Amino acid sequence: MIKKKIEKAFNQQINAETYSAYLYLSMSAALERMNLPGFANWMRVQAQEEMTHAMKFFQHIIERGGKVVLAAIDAPPIDWKNVTEIFKEALGHEEKVTGLINDLVDLAAAEKDHAASPMLQWFVNEQIEEEKNAMDILGKLEIVGETAGGLYILDKEMAQRTFVPPAAEQA
Ligand code: FEO
Repeated sequence: MIKKKIEKAFNQQINAETYSAYLYLSMSAALERMNLPGFANWMRVQAQEEMTHAMKFFQHIIERGGKVVLAAIDAPPIDWKNVTEIFKEALGHEEKVTGLINDLVDLAAAEKDHAASPMLQWFVNEQIEEEKNAMDILGKLEIVGETAGGLYILDKEMAQRTFVPPAAEQA
C-alpha cells in the first residue's frame, strides 16, 4: 500500500505532467499561428508524451491501492514573441520538471519507498532526454536565426516527429 505522503506527491506530479501537456499544446497552437506546422507537430507530439507521463503516475497510484485525486490545471501562456522564445521556455520548464522528479526521488528514499524506484528512475532518465531535445532545437535555431529560410528548412525536419508510446514494461 502506498503511503499518504507519496500518494499526495504523485498526485501533484500528475497535475504537473498534465500542465506540461497543456503548455505544449498552447505552444503548438502558437506555432500554427506562426505558419510553422512542422514545429507545431513537434509540440503536439510532446504534449502527447506528457500525457503518458501523467498516466504513469496515475497507474502507479492505482496499482498500489492509492487514491487518484485530480486537481485543476492552471491555464498556460497563449502568446510568444517567436520560436526561440517558445523553446527557451520549454527548456526552462523541463528543468523545473527535472527538479520535481529529483524531489520525488529524495522523498521516496526518505520514506523508504523502494516500490517507486524503478518508475522514478525511468523519469530521471527521461528528463535527460527531455532537456536534451529542447537544447538541440535551440542550438539549431541559433544557427539559422529567426530567418524565414532557416525556419522553413527546420520546420520540415520538425514535421518528421511521430508519437511513440512508451513500452509497457517501462511503466
Ligand atoms: Fe514529463 Fe517533459 O517531462
